Amino acid sequence: MVNQIPNEVIEQIRNSNDIVDVVGEYVQLKKQGRNYVGLCPFHGEKTPSFSVTQEKQIFHCFGCHKGGNVVTFLMEMESFTFFEAIKHLADRAGIDLPSNSLKEESSLSKESQQVLSAHEWLTKLYHHLIRFTKDGKEGLDYLQGRGVSDEAIDAFQLGYAPNTKDFTATFLEKKGFHNQLLVKYGLLIRNQDSDLVTDRFRGRVIFPIRNHLGKTVAFAGRAMEGQEPKYLNSPETDLFQKGKILYNFDLARKHIRKLNEVILFEGYMDVISAYQSGIENVVATMGTALTENQAKLLKRYVDTVILCYDGDNAGVEATYKASRLLQQVGCQVKIAYITDKLDPDSYIKEFGGEAFKREVIGASQTFLSFYMRYLRKDFNLSLESDRLQYVEEVLKEIAKLESSVEREFYVKEISNEFSISVDSLLEEIKQFREKSGSEKDKREKDRYTKKVQKSSSKLLPAFHNAERTLLAYMLQNRAIAEKVQDELGASFNIDAHKIIATYLYAYYEEGNPEDVSIFMDRITDESVRQTLIQLALIPTQTDISDKEINDYLNIIRAESSTGVNIKQLKAEQRLAEQQNDPIKAAQIAVEILELQRQVKHLN
Ligand code: CTP
Ligand code: MN
Repeated sequence: MVNQIPNEVIEQIRNSNDIVDVVGEYVQLKKQGRNYVGLCPFHGEKTPSFSVTQEKQIFHCFGCHKGGNVVTFLMEMESFTFFEAIKHLADRAGIDLPSNSLKEESSLSKESQQVLSAHEWLTKLYHHLIRFTKDGKEGLDYLQGRGVSDEAIDAFQLGYAPNTKDFTATFLEKKGFHNQLLVKYGLLIRNQDSDLVTDRFRGRVIFPIRNHLGKTVAFAGRAMEGQEPKYLNSPETDLFQKGKILYNFDLARKHIRKLNEVILFEGYMDVISAYQSGIENVVATMGTALTENQAKLLKRYVDTVILCYDGDNAGVEATYKASRLLQQVGCQVKIAYITDKLDPDSYIKEFGGEAFKREVIGASQTFLSFYMRYLRKDFNLSLESDRLQYVEEVLKEIAKLESSVEREFYVKEISNEFSISVDSLLEEIKQFREKSGSEKDKREKDRYTKKVQKSSSKLLPAFHNAERTLLAYMLQNRAIAEKVQDELGASFNIDAHKIIATYLYAYYEEGNPEDVSIFMDRITDESVRQTLIQLALIPTQTDISDKEINDYLNIIRAESSTGVNIKQLKAEQRLAEQQNDPIKAAQIAVEILELQRQVKHLN
C-alpha cells in the first residue's frame, strides 16, 4: 500500500531526526574524522566497521555492507515497515502525523498485534486500579510499605491484579480478545477439568515488563503475603524471552548513552529503588544469569558495565560469570559490592540512596580486585603450595591488562602480601603476555582505518573509476548530473551505475534536492543500493573543472565503444571457428588483442 503521509511531512520528520542521534540509540558511536564509527549492529564484530556520516545522513558498514538512511536503519534494526519507521521518528521528534494518514501493513503478525494490544490494555487497567481505586488499595499499601513513591509507580506503570477469578478474563473478553490467544500468552489459564478460563495474575502487585521500545510484553506478579512463587511471570513466548530482554532498558537507554556506563542489577525492585535515588542508568536481568545476547546488547551501548548483584554467595558467583561474559564481548567491568548479604534495594532502604551512590556505586572495584578476593575461596592461603598457585592464577589475569601502570599496581599489591619481589612477578607476567600474544592486540586498534582503506582502494580499471567519480559528483551537484545526462545519458558501462544514473536524472527532474539520503529510497535493489552508498562516500573536491568532467566522459565512452567492438569480434571469432576457418579466427584474435591493448593504453 502506498503511504499517504505527505512528502513535506516525511521531509520534516527526517530533518528532525539526525541519523547520528537515532543510530546512537543503538550503537556507541565515536567521532573519527568526519564520520562516526562503532560496532555494526547488523553483524557480530569486535572491531568497528560501521560508520555514520552526519553530513550526508547515511550509514554504511564496511564489514557486512549494509547501508542506508535513518529510515532504512530503523527498518533493518526493528524490522519496521516504512510506515512504522516514519511513525517512530515522528513520535521521537514530537511531530503529529496527519490523522488521515493511512496505516500501512504492520510488520507484526495479527496475533502479535493483538497480544501487544491486550498487554497495553492490562497495563493501564492494573495501573489505574492501584493508583485510583479501592480495589487496588492492598497493592498500593504493599508498595508504599516498601517505600515506592507514586511517581515511581507511574514511571514503571506498576499495578495491581485483584484476587478475583475472572476479573481480567471478563475485561479482555469485553474488549473482544479471544481466550485461546490470551491463554497462549499466559494472561489467562485454562482449567484442565472444567475447561473454564480464569485469571493468571490474582492478588498480586504487577510489574509490567517492557521491551526496548517501551511496549509491555509480559508481566511479573509479586506475591504480597509470602505465597509461592514470589514472582509469577508470564511464560516465555515469541514476544518475551527473558534472555533477550533487560528490565527497564527502554527508560534507561538515554541515561546509559549519556553516562557511557550502565549499572546491572538482578531484580525489579533494585531498579526501582535506584531510580528513586536518582540513578537512572539502571537495568536488571530478572533473576536469571546474564546471557551472551544481553552482554552484546550492552556492549553496543557502553564501554563499562557496573555489576551490582546481591551480596550473597549466589550473587558473587553470578557476578563472576557475568564479568567473564562481559569481558568476552569487550566490556570493561566494575563491581559494586554490597555488604551484609543485602541486595541493592534493601541496602538503599537501610542506608539511603546517597550512601548507595557513594559507598556502593562510587566505591565499585576493578574486576581484578574483585577477582583476587573471589579466587581466595578456592585456596588455603596458609599453605605454601596454595599460595604459589593462587599467585600464579592472579598473575595470569594481571597479564591480560593492557596498561602497564595498572599491571604494576596489582603486582605491587601481590608483592607486598606474599613477599615476592616485584621484578620476578613482572618477569612472569611478561612470559604470560608473550605466550598469549597480548601485544598483538594493540595492533588491532587500527583495523577500522585499514578496513576502510581496503574497501576504497581496490584496483579498478580506469573506466570504472571514472564512472564512480563522476557519479559521486552527480549525487552532490545537479548541474553536473544535467551535463552528464546531455552528453552520456545512461550509457555507463557498469549496470548498477546505469540504474543509479537513470533514477538520479528522474529524481532531479522532479525538482528534488541534492541529498543522497533521500534519493536512496528510490533504489530498492539491495546490491545497487550498496553501490550507491559506496559512491556517496567517495571523497570529492568542492570544485571540479569541465575539463576533468570531459576527461571522465571520454574514458567512459571509449570503454563502451571498444567494449561493444570486442564483443562483436568475439562473436565473429566463434562463428569462424564453427565454420572451420582457423585463419579467419586467428585474424580476428589479433584484432581483439590490438583493441584490448588500446583500451589498456587509454586507461
Ligand atoms: N525472580 C523471578 N521469580 C522468582 C524469584 C525471582 O522471576 N520466583 C526474579 C525477579 O526478576 C527478581 C529477581 O529474580 O526481581 C531477583 O530475585 P530476588 O533477589 O529473589 O528478588 P528481589 O528482586 O529481591 O525481589 P523482592 O525485593 O521483591 O523480594
Ligand atoms: Mn534481590
